[in-house]
Amino acid sequence: MSNDTISIAVSKGRIYKEALPLLAHAGIVPIDDPDTSRKLILDTNQPDVKLVIIRASDVPTFVEYGAADMGITGKDVLLEYGGSELYEPLDLQIAGCKMMVAGPTEPAAKRPGRKRIASKYVNIAKKFYAAKGEQVEIIKLYGSMELAPLVGLADLIVDLVDTGNTLKANGLEPQEHIMDISSRLIVNKASMKMKHARIKAFIETMAEAVATRGA
Ligand code: ATP
Ligand code: PRP
Repeated sequence: MSNDTISIAVSKGRIYKEALPLLAHAGIVPIDDPDTSRKLILDTNQPDVKLVIIRASDVPTFVEYGAADMGITGKDVLLEYGGSELYEPLDLQIAGCKMMVAGPTEPAAKRPGRKRIASKYVNIAKKFYAAKGEQVEIIKLYGSMELAPLVGLADLIVDLVDTGNTLKANGLEPQEHIMDISSRLIVNKASMKMKHARIKAFIETMAEAVATRGA
């Protein structure tokens, strides 16, 4: 994207919806609606600010490689992505939930061998069990984790929990709290240098918006 433009990568859905009021506080209002438009680069009321609409788990990649100057993404995604080639200057305190271990309310008979854990978050799960000194087998899934214990694929899951309704609907219950999750503003390192004044001002107004919202 051109040097005059500031681009912000964001995923459709809850993060986009919850980020809108914060962006509005920074004077940025999208012209297109990602729910109705097929456009992946959204114009905003500011000609030099664009929103790039991508999958939640792709946001750190776009920002690390400079395909977007900044991004908004969950801490879960950042931890799973790993690496440290990104600045993470601000907790936006949106899309709040918890990373938890969950299992059946009525567990099946114990299988022989190591406990099996199904998750989309294999790195987070590995780190959690390693810190506990527990040897487990981790199975990577891309979605519908709640199904795994029901069909005997795994004993437990590591997944995001908010209201707990999804767990409950599938006969599961939260068992261990791994960490609180919220969405963060991330910034490409080169953009931070090259577009310093504008990015610094943006971070400041976003910080102000977060503080005002919480007040
Ligand atoms: P992808 O499309 O890459 O698979 P996704 O389906 O997880 O990502 P979303 O469901 O929009 O994308 O979730 C985006 C982020 O919102 C998550 O990374 C997490 O930080 C947060 N989140 C996920 N589920 C909830 C929830 N139930 N309540 C609040 N926040 C959540
Ligand atoms: C997320 C997460 C859980 C659910 C938890 O799924 O993966 O399944 O929310 O929320 P709850 O505790 O309030 O029920 P999401 O709604 O994002 O669907 P997805 O997995 O298809 O993206």
